[in-house]
Amino acid sequence: MVAPPPDRTRAELEALAETHGRDRSALLPILQAVMRRHHEISDFAMQAIADILKIPAVDVYGVVTFYAFLNQRYQGKFVVRLCRTISCALQGTNAVARQLSQELGIQFGNTTPDGMFTLEYAHCLGMCDQAPALLVNDEVFVRVTPGQVSMIIDACRSNLQGSYPLRKEAVSWS
Ligand code: FES
Repeated sequence: MVAPPPDRTRAELEALAETHGRDRSALLPILQAVMRRHHEISDFAMQAIADILKIPAVDVYGVVTFYAFLNQRYQGKFVVRLCRTISCALQGTNAVARQLSQELGIQFGNTTPDGMFTLEYAHCLGMCDQAPALLVNDEVFVRVTPGQVSMIIDACRSNLQGSYPLRKEAVSWS
């Protein structure tokens, strides 16, 4: 994906600093905002954030690389995170994963060529009693079966403007 020009990025980051503050506590909310807008955090953005907050760039890098929800690589508009921890694995994660890969035509760890979907594995999402579970951006789906995968993907595609939450009523669980 094409990153915005540096001057525009700098102006956006200055505006975010006006909103969230210019001390270290503003770092995470600024990074989250950049991720929401651009689906990636570029090297330039990390350096600019460090300059604006007057903290070492390595600190910004450390936060970006620590949290799974922040990423240096472009993430699709819809990031599908499938839990593969033990409870979900026992309840059919692999079958759901195969269906997701087939439906989107990509392997886990990749993004569709149109930039719409990224597939990732996740650790426990805290929904072990309703396994298998997956997250689409901030939305949790539980007791997911391979047969429901296309409905979840269709619900995303019908929500291309990115307004959340997804329309869960578009996904039938019967
Ligand atoms: Fe999958 Fe806990 S093991 S949600």
